[in-house]
Amino acid sequence: MLLLAIETSCDETAAAVVRNGREVLANVISSQVKVHAEYGGVVPEIASRKHLEAIPLVIGEALASAAVSLDEIEGIAVTQGPGLAGALLVGVSVAKAIAFARRLPLIGINHIEGHLAAIFLERPVAFPFLALAVSGGHTHLYRVEGFGRYRPLGQTLDDAAGEAFDKVAKLLGLPYPGGIEIDRLAATGNELAVALPRPLLHDGSCNFSFSGLKTAVLTYLQKHPLSEGAVTINDLCASFQRAVCDVLVAKTFQAAEADGIERVVVAGGVACNSVLRRTMTEMARQRGVELLIPSPLLCSDNAAMIAVPADYYLEQGLRGDFSLDALASWPL
Ligand code: KG4
Ligand code: ZN
Repeated sequence: MLLLAIETSCDETAAAVVRNGREVLANVISSQVKVHAEYGGVVPEIASRKHLEAIPLVIGEALASAAVSLDEIEGIAVTQGPGLAGALLVGVSVAKAIAFARRLPLIGINHIEGHLAAIFLERPVAFPFLALAVSGGHTHLYRVEGFGRYRPLGQTLDDAAGEAFDKVAKLLGLPYPGGIEIDRLAATGNELAVALPRPLLHDGSCNFSFSGLKTAVLTYLQKHPLSEGAVTINDLCASFQRAVCDVLVAKTFQAAEADGIERVVVAGGVACNSVLRRTMTEMARQRGVELLIPSPLLCSDNAAMIAVPADYYLEQGLRGDFSLDALASWPL
């Protein structure tokens, strides 16, 4: 099917045209990051308003760059949740309006399911696989048996990994979103400079906890102001990033081993992180596990990833109706 997919769960207004859930004809992303950076984080009310302004343009641009007219579109896919309610509502309303006006089948997709499926836009992947979804709002491990068949193995008990990156960046006076800034500064820092905890590393569960790590950075800064010591902001970024990555990598491979899975997918915005990608790759090689991480553009929020499960469900005959509503919280 030729699908138009729409994603507005947070601060990216995105639309994509995707054929058969695999071939990306257009993947347009309009980021609101500059607007929210002024406030040090996403302001939900502003996000909704910016989505409203951008969505017609973004959809128009996606159709134009795919050289496809709305008449050729065979179905509409939209992120239904989880995310910011008001932001989701913009995408859901536009999707319903187009589906109604054009009499097209409509399907609402879970944002996390989209992240996990993004890899299929780049290569085929056999089921089952273990998936780590690691983003601003989520840090979850799943055993994936097929589309719609996710067994949760563990998750964060407090902050998501991306949230920890963003909060630590804020403590360090870095601009929003902090993950990418920490990644950049850490490249020239010493990751052994500051000893930070590896929360829950040896607790035997597949759960994570990152809020204590953030507090450890704060405590360190209070005792050792960066202006007074030999440790630089780059060193602190590198030490923090290493602590997060050590836990993410160790827990992912422990879970894969415990579940007897030899294929691992890493997805979500934090999967853009250079040290996470490198460490995951090294560990997979050592363990003889197949590792799949989408290219960075497909790790961060985009609409093409939403079209992957959407195509599968629509081909199965599933349809959303016009009662479809945004779901701020929606466990996969
Ligand atoms: O998946 P995503 O684009 O949006 C959500 O669904 O949350 O993920 C955004 C998160 C933010 O917390 C951002 O700081 C983080 O991903 N992120 C990174 C990097 N690039 C984005 N974190 C660490 N290193 C990066 N290079
Ligand atoms: Zn996301």
